[in-house]
Amino acid sequence: MIIGKIIDKENNDLSKRIDKQKVPEHIAIIMDGNGRWATKKGLPRSYGHKRGVSVLKEILKASKKLGCKVLTVYAFSTENWTRPTKEVDFLINLFSEVLRNEIEEINEESTKIKFIGDLTPFPETLKKIISSSESLTKNNNKFLLNVCVNYGGRQEIVKVAKELVLKCCTGEIKPSEVNEELFNSELLTRGIKDPELLIRTSGEKRISNFLLWQLAYSEIYISDVLWPDFNEFEFLKAIIDYQSRNRRFGGIESLSNESNQDSQLPS
Ligand code: IPE
Ligand code: IPE
Ligand code: MG
Repeated sequence: MIIGKIIDKENNDLSKRIDKQKVPEHIAIIMDGNGRWATKKGLPRSYGHKRGVSVLKEILKASKKLGCKVLTVYAFSTENWTRPTKEVDFLINLFSEVLRNEIEEINEESTKIKFIGDLTPFPETLKKIISSSESLTKNNNKFLLNVCVNYGGRQEIVKVAKELVLKCCTGEIKPSEVNEELFNSELLTRGIKDPELLIRTSGEKRISNFLLWQLAYSEIYISDVLWPDFNEFEFLKAIIDYQSRNRRFGGIESLSNESNQDSQLPS
């Protein structure tokens, strides 16, 4: 592979293998492996996080080029507070710094940025910059970037349950009215279509409390590449793999090219 290009070993341009009609509208990414990337190089873990930011920028650009509309990235989980204070503080400062440096360009590209998660424990400086970035970009409509910080899927589900119980108690809704649609309308991702594709880097085969409700029928692509080494080439590989999947949603494969012989149940 030629570094920085989207050409494979056989000199094929991967972008030519993408079916533009089948590009996922919403892609979710668990950006994992920053620490291991740095450790392997004998560097502090923070270098991996820093490098991870440039990769996110590249993938954001690639998503737009592809025609995807929404990217939801996992930047800090509710469980990541258990890491050493030094690393947590570094990440919090990094979020502020990146937002400060990038928000202008994000806005110029008509991208809306939204932070998903419980922002309460973060320092005022970060909360302020998040709020000003969200309001600056709130009317942008070309692309939506959701950044999940202090996010946990279970916590989100419990929060929705609490809100619905409260509405039942005050008589705003009846318990019999609780359904998937109502539940969806209370999620932090309300109004956003569920991701068609989840990408996790670094080879880990778990969800780690990410979008538990929303990923119910997403296709999962695991890349062995550590996030700081991930790039447009690897991203296109994920899209090509996604496009080869047969999404059945509990039904059966489409029989469009076959005779109708199986449509009758045996008597
Ligand atoms: C993902 O990389 C970034 C965050 C969770 C903030 P990690 O920091 O988890 O890196 P590894 O998995 O330890 O290599
Ligand atoms: C998931 O990665 C969270 C983020 C990428 C922000 P982790 O590294 O925290 O997940 P585990 O510990 O491997 O499950
Ligand atoms: Mg990790």
